[in-house]
Amino acid sequence: MYKIGMFDSGVGGLTVLKEIQRIVPSSHIIYYGDNGNAPYGDKTEIEIRELCLNIGKFLYENEVDIIVIACNTATAASIKMMKNKFPIPVIGVIEPGIRAALKVTQNKNIGVILTPASAKMGAYKNVFDVIATKAHTLTEKGCKLICPMIENGWEEHYGNYLTDEIIKLYVEQISDEIDTLILGCTHYPIVENNIAKYFKKNIVNPANETAKELLKELSMIKPKNLTNTDPKVEFIVSGNSKNFTVFAEHFLGKKIDSIYELDLQVTGRKV
Ligand code: DGL
Repeated sequence: MYKIGMFDSGVGGLTVLKEIQRIVPSSHIIYYGDNGNAPYGDKTEIEIRELCLNIGKFLYENEVDIIVIACNTATAASIKMMKNKFPIPVIGVIEPGIRAALKVTQNKNIGVILTPASAKMGAYKNVFDVIATKAHTLTEKGCKLICPMIENGWEEHYGNYLTDEIIKLYVEQISDEIDTLILGCTHYPIVENNIAKYFKKNIVNPANETAKELLKELSMIKPKNLTNTDPKVEFIVSGNSKNFTVFAEHFLGKKIDSIYELDLQVTGRKV
C-alpha cells in the first residue's frame, strides 16, 4: 500500500484529501496541518519555504512514497526546493489547477483567487506563462480575509452573512470577461457555494486534477512499504487539534481516529 504524505497550513488541504480518498482509496495518508503557523498567506516566501522544508523532512523520515503539497501558497514558495531536496516525487496543486481551467474555459480568459503571498509570488502566473498558449490570459486576485475566516471558523460562528460579505468583496472585483475562476487556495472550495453566488460561470477546484496526477505518479513507483494494512489517515497538527477535529469530521463526514499535536518547528520527532 502506498504511503502518501500531504500538508497544508490547516484545514484547506482536506479539500484535496477528500479527492485523494475518492481517487486513490487504498492508501495510508499522513496529513500535516500546520495550523499553528496559519495563515501562510501573510508570510514571506522565505518563511513559508522554511516551514515547508521542516514538514517535508518530517514526512520523508516517516517513509512516505510521495509528498503532496496540498496548499497553493506552499506550492508556489517551495515546490522547486522540495523536488530538489527529497528523492521521492513531490506534487503541488497549481499546475493541476491551471490544467483543469484550460480544459473548461471557452473564451480563454481565466481568473484565480488566491492568498496575498501567492499573488505576490505570481504563483499562478509563473506556471501559466509556461503551460498556456499566448491566446490565454490569467488574472490573479489576492484575498486577504477568506483563508483566515475559514481557518478560524468564522463562517460557523457568524453564519453565511459575513461569509457572503467577505467573498462578495473580492469576487465582485473579478472582470466580466473572465469565464473561468480557479479556487487558488485549498481553503476556498470549503466556501465554494458562497463563491458561486457571485461568480456564475465556471469554477475550478484543483483538487480533482491533483488527485489524478497523484494516481499517475504512484503508477510509476513501487511502494516502500509492502504491508497490506487497512487504509487510514493519520492527522498531525502544529496547533489546536480540537478545532481541527471538529471541522475535519464535519467536512469529511466521518470520525477521525488518529490525531496528534506536534509543532515541527520546536521538536521534530517521529510519530
Ligand atoms: N490552503 C492554503 C493555500 O492553498 C492557504 C494558505 C494560508 O494559510 O494562507 O494557499
